[in-house]
Amino acid sequence: MTPHRSRQHPEVAVREAVAADLVEAAQIYQSAAMTLHEVLRLRNPWSSEDARAIDLREAIGALSDLSATPSGKVIVAETGNELTGVAAVRIRGRHAHIAFLFVLPAWQGKGVGGQLLARLREIIDAAGASVVTLVASRDPRAWQRYLRFGLHPGPPVMSMRARKPRFPDLVPGDGLESVPIERDRADVLEAVDRLDREIAGVSRLPEIARWLEHGAEGTLLRDRVTDRPVGFFIVSVHADHGRIGPVVSRTVTRFPDVLSRALQMAGRHERDVVWRVDLPSANHVAIGPLLDAGFSPHNLMPWFANGEIGRWDRYIFRDEDTL
Ligand SMILES: CC(C)(COP(=O)(O)OP(=O)(O)OC[C@H]1O[C@@H](n2cnc3c(N)ncnc32)[C@H](O)[C@@H]1OP(=O)(O)O)[C@@H](O)C(=O)NCCC(=O)NCCS
Repeated sequence: MTPHRSRQHPEVAVREAVAADLVEAAQIYQSAAMTLHEVLRLRNPWSSEDARAIDLREAIGALSDLSATPSGKVIVAETGNELTGVAAVRIRGRHAHIAFLFVLPAWQGKGVGGQLLARLREIIDAAGASVVTLVASRDPRAWQRYLRFGLHPGPPVMSMRARKPRFPDLVPGDGLESVPIERDRADVLEAVDRLDREIAGVSRLPEIARWLEHGAEGTLLRDRVTDRPVGFFIVSVHADHGRIGPVVSRTVTRFPDVLSRALQMAGRHERDVVWRVDLPSANHVAIGPLLDAGFSPHNLMPWFANGEIGRWDRYIFRDEDTL
């Protein structure tokens, strides 16, 4: 790809990231995020070396996933031999979700972030996506960039955590039959994909296959009487945390039953981990069951978008970067 040279800063070039860039790109993220926390005097989640190492590993994982899947794209800003910024986007059909935008502290305020966003705009337009969304930090400079990008603030995304969860036992009589989601079950995957298109708003079968390949477990729920798919969920355990999501229900009324089933599956994991859930503000029916299971809010993250995707009053995200 030809480097995209800036008008303001001829020495800064924006190009697609290669595998060898990703560790440095993740370090840019961590350095920018840590400096922002100091400036805003926020609680510092990187207080120990261990916490920094885990966070960096997660960022490298997220960037590797974005650059390895066809729906993702990672770009970097380069100045001489140094990477000075990183940005990433995931595009599924008409939806583009910007997952990373970070500039090295020494290079901030010099237009690098603007250049990265201009390149993302070209990538998003070329893919034909029209709805752009993102979960923002608390940096007003980032908000300024997003407003100029044509995005508007919306209801925040809530991240909840449970250190000592109390997962429910099987609820008898919910009338649901569970079918494992497996990569060789084309009929099950097709039903999952149909639910995903309707509720999440986009298709993401290759990503679901990837999560399963990496050890996530999924269940499709069918109504025992009508045999119709009611919802599905995915649960996974990572190095230092467990994750519940996506959780998808065809109706708001059925969402608590689908979520209960997901919480039961999480309860079957033996490992003692902190559990995480990221959910859209529109989903009110998830909150009661999550509080009952011992979850509490960890963060409310600013949301920017230029439109709506899916029916998020009956949806829990995979995570804030993936939706
Ligand atoms: C947000 C970030 C990526 C922007 O990149 P950058 O290279 O610093 O940004 P630019 O220089 O291109 O533009 C900064 C804009 O903010 C404006 N700005 C600067 N200080 C500001 C402030 N205190 N309040 C509001 N706007 C401010 C500038 O005027 C400029 O806008 P303009 O071009 O419309 O005049 C970068 O600052 C960063 O990494 N911040 C910390 C990490 C972070 O929060 N990332 C965003 C994750 S969602």
